[in-house]
Amino acid sequence: MIKKIANIFFEKFSVQPEVFRSPGRINILGEHTDYNEGFVLPAAIDKNIYVAISKRTDNEVHLFACDFNEYFITGIGQIKPADKQWPNYILGVVYQLQKNGHSIGGFNLVIDGDIPIGAGLSSSAAVECATLFALNTVFNLGLNKLQMAPLAQKAEHVYAGVNCGIMDQFASLFGKKEHAIKLDCRNLHYEYIPANMGDYKIILLNTNVKHNLASSEYNTRRKQCEEGVTIISQNNPLVKSLRDVDMNMLNKHAALLDPVVFKRCKYVVQENERLLGACEDLKLSDLQALGIKMYETHEGLRKDYEVSCKELDFLVNYVKAIPSVAGARMVGGGFGGCTINLIHKEAVDKIINEISAAYETAMGLTLTTYRVTIEDGTAACNIN
Ligand code: GLA
Repeated sequence: MIKKIANIFFEKFSVQPEVFRSPGRINILGEHTDYNEGFVLPAAIDKNIYVAISKRTDNEVHLFACDFNEYFITGIGQIKPADKQWPNYILGVVYQLQKNGHSIGGFNLVIDGDIPIGAGLSSSAAVECATLFALNTVFNLGLNKLQMAPLAQKAEHVYAGVNCGIMDQFASLFGKKEHAIKLDCRNLHYEYIPANMGDYKIILLNTNVKHNLASSEYNTRRKQCEEGVTIISQNNPLVKSLRDVDMNMLNKHAALLDPVVFKRCKYVVQENERLLGACEDLKLSDLQALGIKMYETHEGLRKDYEVSCKELDFLVNYVKAIPSVAGARMVGGGFGGCTINLIHKEAVDKIINEISAAYETAMGLTLTTYRVTIEDGTAACNIN
């Protein structure tokens, strides 16, 4: 992949580029908690977005996307959202850098990768982080990864229109081989927890659907959580987010809250509590206990947060009855994408075969499967 992108770059621009990569992510537990100042437990995976880049002597920006075999050209002084989607993840980063007073000149950039798009594995965050890391390096901007994470997140807000939390960008930048990141989204304090999977493998099952309400519903969930906080904080001025709320406090406000808002808040409060337990399970390599929590999370996302869909539910229900699966749940924002499954290594092939056939029969769709490993975050690549 690195050689390939460097060669394509050379063909297009006749100079040797520098190459950078930023990975996709999984999330072991802690879904829809990041924008509620809660905890998340993501990890970077062995699928990446690659960016090849070189400075130009003029003020033009030439982008080329290998996946679409398409150029996008603009000027560094004319950065604005494009009609097409793919350039926006790159332009959004440029815009944020400029807005924060960083001066960058013209550049050529080629983008490629093997993170499936729309699978809930944060290909867009990986594009933002790879672009940001690349621009930071070639223009000597002096940003560290802690400064980059919120900047890449802002790029998603403004140029992709999704009011996402910090998890995806943070995980992509800070990933560490064979470790999950316990991130406190309130203050960005983090701890690496060894993800010793023992005899289990992390298998992702891609529904290959992305229902188009994903981004609008995402923003709605965020508003519903804020609505809950506004009401609870009227009696409890110290409550700034759902992070400050426990079930006891939430139950006391049940009558004041819209029933839907109550359900949303309940899920988030429970998920934060569950996450702390999941971190202990992981430290003890108790995958059975962790797996039970993953199923509980899925149930909460399905019933209370209502961000699942029939394809995701089918996959989780199917494996629930299989003893060699420790746990499973939908991963990411929801409304499609992947489930994450902890499957005993001896059973992986058999289960993949069976569930692929069952999914096709039940849903009329092809299932795509990925066996992933946990890897390091954003970095420069060695071209040779
Ligand atoms: C998307 C967002 C993240 C996070 C997850 C849900 O991936 O980008 O910030 O909110 O959904 O946990």
